[in-house]
Amino acid sequence: MEHTPVLVAETLELLEGTALRVLLDATVGAGGHACAFLEAKVDGEVIGLDRDAEILDVARERLAPFGERARLHHAAFADLELVLQAEGIERVDAALFDLGVSSLQLETAERGFSFRLSGPLDMRMDRSCGESAVELVNRTPERHLADLIFELGGERSARRVARAIVERRRRRRFSTTDDLARVVREAVRGRSRIDAATRTFQALRMAVNDELGQLERGLEAAAGRLRVDGRLVAISFHSGEDRVVKRFFREERRLEVLTRKPLRPSDSECERNPRARSSRLRAARRLADA
Ligand SMILES: C[S@@+](CC[C@H](N)C(=O)[O-])C[C@H]1O[C@@H](n2cnc3c(N)ncnc32)[C@H](O)[C@@H]1O
Repeated sequence: MEHTPVLVAETLELLEGTALRVLLDATVGAGGHACAFLEAKVDGEVIGLDRDAEILDVARERLAPFGERARLHHAAFADLELVLQAEGIERVDAALFDLGVSSLQLETAERGFSFRLSGPLDMRMDRSCGESAVELVNRTPERHLADLIFELGGERSARRVARAIVERRRRRRFSTTDDLARVVREAVRGRSRIDAATRTFQALRMAVNDELGQLERGLEAAAGRLRVDGRLVAISFHSGEDRVVKRFFREERRLEVLTRKPLRPSDSECERNPRARSSRLRAARRLADA
């Protein structure tokens, strides 16, 4: 099982320039982008963070050959300031957010992210804290559940899905991914190329991890810690995420947008890595304080 990083060449190109040396990789994951950066830049350093302690172990092993040039922290975007304080670093040259989940998380059944694999309904990126999907699914009021499935998943049958979930949990609580996926598939109207459980699972995952709230806080903190002319790069896989990034870049007066339109992966990258298909990259440059 492996995670293939997306838009690596495009990211490196945006981080080119001798002055861009210290990269804050806010989503270090399995270390794919970090490794490519450290290989391309012999004097480069990465401060990497991930809220998933298990995946961070994978990055530790992969980035070990770079020694002190890669320093990793178990932390969420919301704690980004604390990480930089602990590192004693005032400003970084670049920050990268490669959003969403890693294939390693998705393909590990016991993490509960996948509707294809049978596992406990968990979906937390950080298993050491917070409410898991099992609590969310078994206690959220029907209306609220419908709203979040619609807003975060774009599921048009959200009301029917929420009703089916509530009816079923009155009789028996949900505890596994396959059980939930079955109920969702039965409730979704219409045929589609993708599995009918996809959108609901995505919405639940985003809610469990407060992904959009975390993203807003992370972008804000990173932009504040970029040095003048530093780069902020964000890769999103979901229209909700991309909207947050786009709005932040447009409204943040300390940033100049470098990508009028988001960069998309080439056809050949999508062929090699189907997960790349929905990716969009936006980049910005830090301006001097007014
Ligand atoms: C798409 S993967 C990153 C892959 C990585 N760039 C690579 O090349 O291997 C996204 C990672 O971000 C982490 N993540 C998502 N939201 C986070 C947050 N709010 N704070 C910290 N890490 C987060 C996930 O745990 C996951 O490992």
